[in-house]
Amino acid sequence: MVLKYRIGKIIQTDAVVKEIPCEKKLPEGFGADEKKNICIFQKRIGEYDKIYGLGENVRGINKRGWKYKSECLDNPNHREDTVSMYCAHNFFIIDGNVKSGYFLDTPGVVSYDMCYEKSDEIRVEIEGLNVDIYIIDGDSLTEIIKQFREIIGKSYIPPKWALGYQQSRWGYASKNDVREVVRQYREGGIPLDGLYLDIDYMERYKDFTINEESFSNFPEFVEEMKKEKVHLVPIIDAGVKVEEGYALYEEGVEKDYFCKDSEGGYFTAGVWPGYVHFPDFLREEVREWFGSKYQFLLDMGIDGFWNDMNEPAFFYRKQRLDAALPKVQQYIEKNLDGAEFFEMLGELNQLTVNHTDYPYMLHCVEGKVVSHDKVHNIYGYMMTRAAGEMLEKLRPDKRILLFSRSSYIGMHRYGGMWQGDNLSWWSHLLMNIKMMPSLNMCGFLYAGADLGGFGADVTEDLMLRWIAFGIFTPLMRNHATQGTRLQELYQFSKKDVFRKLITIRYSLIPYLYSELVKCAENCEMMFQPIGFQFDEDKRAAEIEDQLFVGESIMIAPVYQQNMYGRYVYLPEDMIMIRMKSSEEIRTYRMEKGDHYIEIPLDEVVFFLRKGKLIPFVRSADTVEELDETNMKLLGWENEAAEYELYQDDGFTMHCDTEGRWITICRNPDGSIISDSDICFQDMTKEVMDYE
Ligand code: GLC
Repeated sequence: MVLKYRIGKIIQTDAVVKEIPCEKKLPEGFGADEKKNICIFQKRIGEYDKIYGLGENVRGINKRGWKYKSECLDNPNHREDTVSMYCAHNFFIIDGNVKSGYFLDTPGVVSYDMCYEKSDEIRVEIEGLNVDIYIIDGDSLTEIIKQFREIIGKSYIPPKWALGYQQSRWGYASKNDVREVVRQYREGGIPLDGLYLDIDYMERYKDFTINEESFSNFPEFVEEMKKEKVHLVPIIDAGVKVEEGYALYEEGVEKDYFCKDSEGGYFTAGVWPGYVHFPDFLREEVREWFGSKYQFLLDMGIDGFWNDMNEPAFFYRKQRLDAALPKVQQYIEKNLDGAEFFEMLGELNQLTVNHTDYPYMLHCVEGKVVSHDKVHNIYGYMMTRAAGEMLEKLRPDKRILLFSRSSYIGMHRYGGMWQGDNLSWWSHLLMNIKMMPSLNMCGFLYAGADLGGFGADVTEDLMLRWIAFGIFTPLMRNHATQGTRLQELYQFSKKDVFRKLITIRYSLIPYLYSELVKCAENCEMMFQPIGFQFDEDKRAAEIEDQLFVGESIMIAPVYQQNMYGRYVYLPEDMIMIRMKSSEEIRTYRMEKGDHYIEIPLDEVVFFLRKGKLIPFVRSADTVEELDETNMKLLGWENEAAEYELYQDDGFTMHCDTEGRWITICRNPDGSIISDSDICFQDMTKEVMDYE
């Protein structure tokens, strides 16, 4: 059951799509402190109760024992003590004797003390005196999550090719750079479906322009890449360069579509192109305007986009820089002592503390002026909504790839997300693993992190382990920043091992695609902590480094350097699947309990759940080229099982359309029946005993 309560009146976020009447009396624990101008939620919880949710955040799947702050932040160097990341996902569940989910719908800042100050108390502070509160009760965690997901609407489903492996790097500066990457992938036989264009494809970082020197004849180039079966995915940044003669800027000024500055004029900040103005995405007409600009690239043959810097992120606000520079000048020709040096640094460092600038940035909401700090957390969401809504209008018959760095719940209907700038650290691989279920709870299914890490130099073994995990994440993109070690998979000595690992991804695409669509349509999680399915099992409840991926698979990734195996806990009998490539598979029957499993760098190990099935196909260079008329099927001996497979042309809308679902039945005798022409080969007889 979902109950809705209201304090004050929020600025509409449109996170919730279902009409729910408001209860009259506030629930226990909630209140408002007018003096402090905050709403508060306070609750004592049991010693071993768990807290789940909060989407994109650091630390464990169980969020207990730390403080978090929903205040979208460009935070590339996030660590264990980070409180804010790129997104604001205000949904959490308290899992104790009674289980309840909470969604705090407010576009402003929310601070969570999850048993940090007091070990048995949750205290949440919501800035301002307005919030919509949704409380969701249910017998199980999955039931609560499903109810929540139903009120926020179905998750975005990308085109099928976007489940393929994709390569990115900030630094592909010309067509020849891109061609070279594609050539190396194709020559090395490493499957590849997408290649990302970072800001260098634009003319001096101006949205919806092309750098005519390095990316001349762009439509032809897109066509050339299509022949290679590679989709180009350009970046779009939130800020619009301030430049006379730049059509987007001039039109924005003419129509008065940019956020204002409380000190006069438009809010002006420095991002990649220098001074920019930020479109006021909270206004519908501005969303329509900016969204319609994607047509420029669609018409050139582009069918995927990533929206960036939309927290919004900026390096300085113009007035602040203007005030700081003369101060810094005073230090010139001075023999700076320590204190003076740090004073000077302080002058510069305070420029990037964006939130102090938010009160100056003004939006227009329902005809009223609202300062940015009150609506900060929905800015990136509204940018991606602008794109999503217009892409659907511009290409009504085709799903377009779209994902964003910043998000709020509600954005999951328009696009996916990546986990922002991370680092080539083993701890960030583990964070990637633990974040997936939390994102899924909040509706974000098409998600993943920069594989290999964005900042810092990756090692070959970290890349191998990250790929081994990335095989299972819907967004599988390798991305890195300039100046770091080159990390395209062909750059490493074990190039052939990487190739083989990627083929495993491709052999699982029919499964991953079916599970993604199922979870989107049924409002379920694709990545689940194993305890969510075995809630009576205390061991399972505390395991955070093994996850279910869809209904049939359990993964147990390796995320530590120099470890060639690990303990895995099986909450039920399972079949261990060991794959070196799409063609090299060994399978073993295993009993419930703890096992030490060897996992060398060139092998991906995962598990088939009791009574379930997994379809496999032979890998190909691209998703489009997969032969899905021939499949192998792995199941359980002497057991009947069923699997629902989803098949479509890879881009049409309305995945709930009947006729796209194929029921595969495997009978105890090994015969396979399906309402399709797919030819199945049963793999079950090859399963060996594990010793
Ligand atoms: C931001 C993005 C990153 C991108 C860079 C340059 O840091 O998060 O992915 O490469 O900007 O555009």
